Parts: sequence; structure tokens; C-alpha cells
Amino acid sequence: MSDANLLQISDADGIRRILINRPDKLNALNSATLDALDAAFAAADTDAAVRVVVLSGAGERAFVAGADISEMNGLSAVQGRDFSLRGQRMMRRVEKLSKPVIAMVNGFALGGGLELAMCCHLRIAADTAKVGQPEINLGLIPGFGGSQRLLRLAGRAATLELCLTGAPIDAARALQLGIVNRVVPAAELETETLQLAGRLAKAAPLALRGMLDCVNIGGECGIEEGLEYESAQFGLMFSTNDMREGTGAFLEKRKPHFEGR
Ligand code: COA
Repeated sequence: MSDANLLQISDADGIRRILINRPDKLNALNSATLDALDAAFAAADTDAAVRVVVLSGAGERAFVAGADISEMNGLSAVQGRDFSLRGQRMMRRVEKLSKPVIAMVNGFALGGGLELAMCCHLRIAADTAKVGQPEINLGLIPGFGGSQRLLRLAGRAATLELCLTGAPIDAARALQLGIVNRVVPAAELETETLQLAGRLAKAAPLALRGMLDCVNIGGECGIEEGLEYESAQFGLMFSTNDMREGTGAFLEKRKPHFEGR
């Protein structure tokens, strides 16, 4: 498959859908796919018509079954580090995007696949999905941020269990551990995800961005700095048309129409 087809990208009603399109390889992340995703997210970030991004994997079986093992097999230590940095850079871009990203986890999310899902802001999983960090079975550890994001998302016990055993867990257990936000029957995954995306696409973009920033920054600093940052963001909202529109619409008992201004 040519690099041009590694992703399928489409737009509807403020929702940008990015589909990773290597179903014959269970959407494994090779360098070309990492670069294509990086470019796709950079473009989504700066396109004002995009209010929310939905990321998914092609085919019935996988969101992403990991970093591409056939590509990694031949790498030197220096190339391995570069491959890790390449994946980490892309995933950090997703995490810091100025608009929400939803991972629609339609099957296996293993290794780099779970790492990719974890850098998204929300995760909805099919009840048939399986997630895990199986790198230990390859003589490896997670290299796209998994050791750090899983730790922050689900704590030490879950991180050590998943990363030391390499054993995948089912969607129900992932929900229990806080790794995914919601589990739905596989047949309803797309409808439920698009419903959530539709809700976010109508929300006030600058408030969404402020909230994402609060979590990204507040998650990494002390409470005093985090509260200070929240106040600054809260204050900033008072300079937006959307805040006047939201509060005005409430008082006038009508639905708000937010424009991101
Ligand atoms: N990298 C490269 N290719 C991968 C891959 C990966 N991470 N995961 C799956 N594939 C490929 C397989 O090699 C196979 O390709 P082929 O048909 O050319 O041989 C194809 O995708 C289908 O996978 P297959 O293993 O035949 O399917 P399965 O149903 O027997 O098993 C999994 C599914 C997910 C359990 C299995 O593919 C697997 O364990 N994948 C690797 C998971 C992993 O370790 N990820 C972390 C990588 S750091």
C-alpha cells in the first residue's frame, strides 16, 4: 500500500475522522504511519472547521495492534531510540491538541495501539476490544509513552500488571481500571462515538481548549500552580464571545451557538 493511503480522512459537521488504514497488518504503526498521523493531527489542529477528532482503525479486528514489529526487528539501538522519539512526538502532539480527540477502540489496542489510545482525550471501546502492553513478550518495554501515560491514567498497580505480564485485558477490565471511558456493544460503537463527537463539536471550542490545557498542565504540576492556571484560563473565557453567548443563551432560555471566538 502506498503511503498516501495509510490514513483515510473525512469531515462531517465539525467532526474530523482519521482512520488508520493497514487492516492486513492490524493497523500496526510503522514509521510512515507515524509520520502520516503526525501530519494529519497537525492539520486538524490548525483547521478552525475541525471541532473534534475521532481516531479509529480500519477493519473489524483492530484499533492498532502495536508498533510495527517487522520494522523494529532490524533497528540498532540508536535507530530504536529515534523510532521511540518519533512515536512519542506524534503522540504528544495528539495529547496537546487544541481540540478533543476521541479514540474509537474497535478491537485490539496493543502496545503502540494502547499508547495511541491513551494520548487521546477520551476512549470508547467495543465490548470485544482487548488492550494491553505486550512489549515484554518481545524483550522490549513500551516506547511511545506507555510506561508514563498508563501510570498517570491507571496508577502503579495496573501499569506494572499490564507491562510486566504483557497479558491483554478485556474491555470490561479496562473500564474497571479507568483505562477507557466507556464500553459499548461492538455494533453500537460507531453510533455512540459519533454521538459523543457531535456533542463536543457543538461545545464552545475555546472552553474545550482551556479545559484540555488545564488537565495537561495541572496533571504535571502542584495544586497551587494548577489552581493558579485554572483561574487564568477561567478569566480568559470572559474575553470570549462564546462565554457571552453561553451565559446569554441560558438566561434567554435558548440553545447556545458557539463559534470559537
Ligand atoms: N507489527 C507488525 N505486524 C503485525 C503486528 C505488529 N505489531 N500485529 C499484527 N501484525 C500482522 C501479522 O504479522 C499478520 O501479518 P501477515 O498476515 O503478513 O503474517 C497480520 O498482522 C495479522 O496478524 P496475526 O498475528 O496473523 O493475527 P492473529 O489473529 O493470529 O493475532 C494478535 C492477533 C493481535 C494477537 C497478534 O497479531 C499479535 O500478537 N500482534 C502483536 C501485538 C504486539 O506485540 N504489539 C506490540 C508491539 S511493540
